[in-house]
Amino acid sequence: MPENSFFRPPAPVPQAEPLRPLSFLRTLWNNPIEAWTSEHFERAIVTTRLPFGEIAVVHDPAAIRRVLSDNRNNYPKDAFQKRMLAVLSNGLLTAEDDQWRVQRRALTPVLALRSVRGFAPAMLRAAGHLVERWRSHDGEVIDVTDDVTELALAVLERTIFSDGIAGNGSELRAAMRIYFDSLGRIDPFDLLNLPDFVPRVGRLRTRAAVRLFHQGVDEMIAKRARSDIRAIDPQRDLLTLMLNARDPETGRPLSSAEIRANVITFMSAGHESTANAIAWTLFLLSQSAPWRERIAAEAARELDGPAETLPDRLVETRAVVEEALRLYPPLAAISRVAAGADELAGAPIRRGAMIVIAPYVLHRHRLWWKEPDLFDPARFLPPGRASIDRYIYMPFGAGPRGCIGSVFALQETMIVVAAVMREFELEVAPGHVVWPLHRITLRPRRGLPMIARRRS
Ligand code: HEM
Repeated sequence: MPENSFFRPPAPVPQAEPLRPLSFLRTLWNNPIEAWTSEHFERAIVTTRLPFGEIAVVHDPAAIRRVLSDNRNNYPKDAFQKRMLAVLSNGLLTAEDDQWRVQRRALTPVLALRSVRGFAPAMLRAAGHLVERWRSHDGEVIDVTDDVTELALAVLERTIFSDGIAGNGSELRAAMRIYFDSLGRIDPFDLLNLPDFVPRVGRLRTRAAVRLFHQGVDEMIAKRARSDIRAIDPQRDLLTLMLNARDPETGRPLSSAEIRANVITFMSAGHESTANAIAWTLFLLSQSAPWRERIAAEAARELDGPAETLPDRLVETRAVVEEALRLYPPLAAISRVAAGADELAGAPIRRGAMIVIAPYVLHRHRLWWKEPDLFDPARFLPPGRASIDRYIYMPFGAGPRGCIGSVFALQETMIVVAAVMREFELEVAPGHVVWPLHRITLRPRRGLPMIARRRS
């Protein structure tokens, strides 16, 4: 493996021509990022007619801005996506119109920079536990993806419920696992667009777990409402921040159902995506000796200073994390549906067309990036960082429906990466081939077995 600053991390070579229908379907099923063609990486818009409708793949910044921001009322989330996420019961990710607006207005301050900086100590503690665990496996193979997924869940658990999970924590965590596994699973009935009252057999099995998870969250909300609020620090507890949140326009608090939906939404939207951001960053650093040394030095300098300003001091770590999110954006594609006819990047859009914006393609697009396939975190160092267009680099989406958890996710990723790099040199386990696999998130195929060796 290369040991220099500029190397080409593993990624499929774009197809020269669109795949034939059968291999297209097979590739969509196995690993959709292998289906992209050179045309997608070179043109601002590519429109394809399929038997079930039109798909417009849009990678022009002005057109993306039109879809996600300026003309966004014409581009709601599509029914297929909502069905896959139906289990999130109208939290922020799936709600539309007024139901969404009220929640977004109330919850924006909850995950804004000021609140999130207060969670830095909890993130540092979680990173400390990971480091301790890996220390006891010095020189052995560890599964980085599994361990950082556990860590990301633990961080959410400790920041949402800072006084711990009520009742039987391990039973609840097991239910949570089954619940997350069921999320986003494509059911053949969804593909056939059968109405919602037709039960999805695949999801029947997870119903008990879902019920248990919902009950557990309800109990914790009720417990919090009963318990002495002074016993916890409201600035370091997401649930309290949610209970205290008000819609700034109407003064209305969120209902218990809305709080439950959003606790579950934050845990679902926040854990696997952040875990992948951490895993990909650690992998990329394992391939670049110069950046590995820079990040280890920055971590040694900064980690023991004040926790709440730490993310502002991890300048180089942030650049590496941003480069990892460019090359391997955990949400590799975003979709919408055109409610009415429109024009995007000079091409007509019919009513009903599916619009796909794929950060994975956009971030490697030949029109917008120099050497797009090379690992080069320097693109994200100041002052150059400020000139990167927000509709060309968008791992967290863009516009009013962009990620509400972006500050939280970036902060957690930087802190964990710094804590790990100060302590260890990581090496991919011999014989393991790292390859990006697009499921709900873009994750390393077959995990990321690595050897963690303590720095001398
Ligand atoms: C590296 C980690 C993360 C990535 C890459 C990511 C990415 C995204 C993207 C691309 C969207 C927009 C989807 C669309 O427009 O269709 C989004 C929305 C969202 N994300 Fe994240 N996310 C991450 C972490 C988090 C975390 C930690 C939380 C919560 C604590 C979170 C909560 C949400 C919510 C609630 C939405 C929906 C916002 C709305 O529609 O108003 N995400 N995320």
